Parts: sequence; C-alpha cells; structure tokens
Amino acid sequence: MSKKLNIGLFGFGVVGQGLYDIVKTKNLNIEIKKIAIKNPDKKRSLPAEIFTTDRDDILNNPEINTVVELINDTEAAFEIVSRALSSGKNVVSASKKMIATYLNELIELQHEHGTSLLYEGSVCGSIPIIRNLEEYYDNELLHSISGIFNGSSNYILSKGFLEGLDYDSALKQAQDLGFAETDPTMDVGGYDAKYKLIIAAAHAYGVVVNPEQVINVGIQNLSANDIQYAREKNLKIKLVPVAKELDDRHVTLFVLPKFVNDTEFLYNVEYEYNGVTVQAAFADQQFFFGKGAGGHPTGSAVLSDIAALRYDYQYEYKKAKSVKDLRFTNNVDLNIYLSYQDESLVDELGFEHIHERFYSGNYKFVTGKINLQKLIEKQHRISESKAFVAFADQLTGVSLAPVKQAAEVF
Ligand code: HSE
Repeated sequence: MSKKLNIGLFGFGVVGQGLYDIVKTKNLNIEIKKIAIKNPDKKRSLPAEIFTTDRDDILNNPEINTVVELINDTEAAFEIVSRALSSGKNVVSASKKMIATYLNELIELQHEHGTSLLYEGSVCGSIPIIRNLEEYYDNELLHSISGIFNGSSNYILSKGFLEGLDYDSALKQAQDLGFAETDPTMDVGGYDAKYKLIIAAAHAYGVVVNPEQVINVGIQNLSANDIQYAREKNLKIKLVPVAKELDDRHVTLFVLPKFVNDTEFLYNVEYEYNGVTVQAAFADQQFFFGKGAGGHPTGSAVLSDIAALRYDYQYEYKKAKSVKDLRFTNNVDLNIYLSYQDESLVDELGFEHIHERFYSGNYKFVTGKINLQKLIEKQHRISESKAFVAFADQLTGVSLAPVKQAAEVF
C-alpha cells in the first residue's frame, strides 16, 4: 500500500506550475498542501491561501512529509533541502547546480537521517536516465555516456543550422518559451550541461566530481564560418557533455561543442529535445530521447520521483560504494577543431599533433590533438580571444585516447 504524501512545494515557476497541472489530472494519493514563493505580488493562478513566503510554514509543518524543491537560487535550495532531509522529510529536487555542487553533502545527509532525495527532473527533463543508471545498469560496465543535456543551447543551434536564425533571436525565443535559465550563460556556456553530466556520472560510475574540475566550453563563439564548415562536411555542431571510462582506474568528463555525423543518434536531436547515448559493454549502444526542458516534461519526471517516494524509494549510490577505485582525470588527449583570429593562440595551446590548418580571409582554423589539461589551462585565453573550440573526433577519424602512464590524476 502506498503512503499518503503531503507535499510542500518550493517554487511556482515553469516547472512548479507544470507539476501542479499534472498532479491535478492524477489520483495518486498525494496532495500539495502549501507552495512557498519569493514574490507575493506576482499574479497567481491559484487561491492565495495555498501560497506562503515563509519557508518555515513548510519546513516546520509536521503534516508535510515531502518537500518538492523547484527554485532558482542554489544556496537557498541547498539550505531548504538540507533542513528537510535533516528533519525527516523526503525531498524531490530539480536544482541541477545545487545537486552537482553539494552532492557529497546530500548523500551524507540522506545516510545520516535515513531520508531520501530524488532528482530525476534535474537531468534531461523528461528522460528517465538517473533511475536507469542507478538500477538498470547496476551491473553493466558503461564505457561512456554522452548526449545533448541542454535544451536551450540545442534550440539555438537548431534554429541556426535548420532555419538560419541568428543567435540572439534564437536565444530570445528559448527564453520566451521558458527553457532558458535566468542567466542564459548557464545554458550557452555549457554550465547547465556540466552540472547534469556530473549528476549522471555519479550514478553511472560512482564518482562525485567537483564542477570546478570539469571543463565546459559553450557555443557563444560559434561563427557562421564554423556552421558552413560543418555543413560542407555533412556534419552538425551540438553541445555535448561526455563521461568516458578511459581504463579500469580513470574516468574523464568534459562539455564541449562537438561535430556529429549522421550515423550518430545525436545528429537528429533538434530544438529543445535532449538525447542520451549510453555505450555499454554488453548491451552495446543505447539511446534515450525526449524533451529536456519545459514545465510539463520536467514536471513529469518530478512527479515520477514523488510517486516513487510513496514506496520510500531511495538511491543507493551502489557504484560509489563498490570497491572499484575509479578516479576522475583530465589527463586525456582529444582531437579538437579551433577556429581563431589570434595566431599566437595556436602556439600557446601546444598541439601534440596538427592534422589540418586552413586560412582564408578572416577564417582560420586548425584541427589536431591536444591534452585536455592544456585546453583547461588556456580556457580563459580561448574565450577572451573569441576562438571557437569543438571536440572533433569526426574530423580526424581518431577518437578519444587516454594518455599512457597518466602521471597526474585529479
Ligand atoms: N535551461 C535548461 C535547458 C532547462 O535549457 O535545458 C532544463 O534543465
């Protein structure tokens, strides 16, 4: 028999309202008792009595046994979720930055208080990837997980590639449709995708990585020349987070724009859709596809977590507890494409091998092999000189290779 859930909801934005719409249509023995909001003056679609601006109305209410946290403020979200977990309430959250930043602490709090935190909606909206990584792939060796984890940047890329729409107009549309973060740099700069990657990697590999250690390069410096180059080669450019097991001891994570060809599942993932490609040892390649942003798609994942809490479902973080000593590293060689204006950048980056170099008018690019650590060191230079970098395994025919005798493992 499932237990009755009395919910205190934090946040009534796009996802909070989406969740409310869905809950109304179901008979799941759950009730939303109170909704905490920041701005009491905003016009709301529900009677005023359900709202409060005092978080204690939820956190100190013994009748509320479940907290659903869907707010925008990372520090406030962590405080709310910590207090709820510490006081015996189970929690569902979709705050990817908060979860990726405080994952170790959140795991510890659940362990200490015997409470459960679920966050399917935080990674790729409607796609059920976390519970699959946690449960279904429990005994499967995962070679890699990659995908399109950010709907807004994918929307901008699709609008540019398929419709020729300029960057600013496409971003404005993504904002109007409610996909984009309050600070769109989170989306277009690859931060949002990175937080999601870190959460997915914890369930895929049992490694909890500090976001500051993982490179994220976005699509802000993508130029018409880069798009044209991709088109001529029948490629598309997507913003792709990658987690890859390099050998028995090392896993690497990075978020870079990537050239994809038409044999890759991600090639046909357009607009706000997300996709996750899992490369497994025995199941081989599998692909998950669905809407990665928006109130109802993300609300559906949040509801699935709420429903699981009726049966006291918890993530066990089994892979983190396993004996396998897998560590995160940036010591890996990648093939990249770099289009640039500042000639000295190429020397500074110290390519280990240059595959192709091209100059024509103001379009200059180079493709070649570079160590990821070197790219991280020069990330600031790359962004300030408005250069565009992409992961280019498709251009050289050589894929990601671990560095032999990894001296430094982070
Ligand atoms: N800004 C995010 C995106 C929302 O565009 O994917 C969903 O996490």
